[in-house]
Amino acid sequence: GHIWTLPSRPELFDFRGVSMTHFFTDNWENVQNFKARPDDVLIATYPKAGTTWVSYILDLLYFGQTSPERQTSVPIYERVPFLELIELYLLLPTSPRLIKTHFPVQFVPKSFWEQNCKIIYVARNAKDNMVSYFHFDSMAMIEPDPGDWNNYFQRFMQGKVVTGSWYDHVNGWWKKKQTSPNVHYMFYEDLVEDTGREIDKLCSFLGLSPSEDERKRITGGVQFDKMKKNNMTNYSTHARMDFKTGSFMRKGRVGDWKNHFTVAQNEEFDEDYKKKMKDPTLQLRTDL
Ligand code: A3P
Repeated sequence: GHIWTLPSRPELFDFRGVSMTHFFTDNWENVQNFKARPDDVLIATYPKAGTTWVSYILDLLYFGQTSPERQTSVPIYERVPFLELIELYLLLPTSPRLIKTHFPVQFVPKSFWEQNCKIIYVARNAKDNMVSYFHFDSMAMIEPDPGDWNNYFQRFMQGKVVTGSWYDHVNGWWKKKQTSPNVHYMFYEDLVEDTGREIDKLCSFLGLSPSEDERKRITGGVQFDKMKKNNMTNYSTHARMDFKTGSFMRKGRVGDWKNHFTVAQNEEFDEDYKKKMKDPTLQLRTDL
């Protein structure tokens, strides 16, 4: 008969000052030696900040016209694979290659900088990011057990979640952007507010000029409800997620944190936030 084994959840450990699991560090040497090509496009995010959304936008911008079959047969996480999980992108047949990473800026392989690759960073406000991450960790067996909400809330503030401190991540990339014209820094909240406008900004950064029709088609196609129904973008094909516990395309809103944070938690959070977010030029919206 069958032996059913539940995948066991990985341990969290400190890796060069950043909380990680082995999935993201096993290939460290190979990943650090990665040879980027000048036309590679890297999507960098803290987990749950809108990685999949921006991956899909880019995939449509680059390949929506030329390879429509890609849209209906290859899940987005294979079209835009993880830098950290080397095996997939070695096989990437496309040019450009679209690659995603959750690395903090100091972990990005040097080849991306040497080759002047375009890098797109997406940030999401910490409160919604935390809530989204909590729900994701509950259903994704590749993640350490999130525990209960109160516990998770503390761990997130301490940076004891995969990829470490949200505060360090968004700040590190923000600093880098000030001196790197190849980094485009965008916000999840802006994408929710006006997807078309943000796609226009992306296009001018990337030097793309889709037709007006194409731009409309993409803007419509990447809306939350469309992506939620689309099996190639909603992760329903992913083996390591427990869809009984939740869904990857969960809510897609700004401000859902209000349904999770208690008043006391919100005060504690804001107090701590002020201490960690000293740069007045980096402002994230928790409300629209
Ligand atoms: P929620 O859990 O708040 O719903 P990532 O791709 O980085 O893992 O981020 C996932 C988050 O982005 C989830 O947030 C998901 O619903 C949201 N998301 C994905 N596509 C979206 C879209 N088209 N519009 C709004 N939110 C989207």
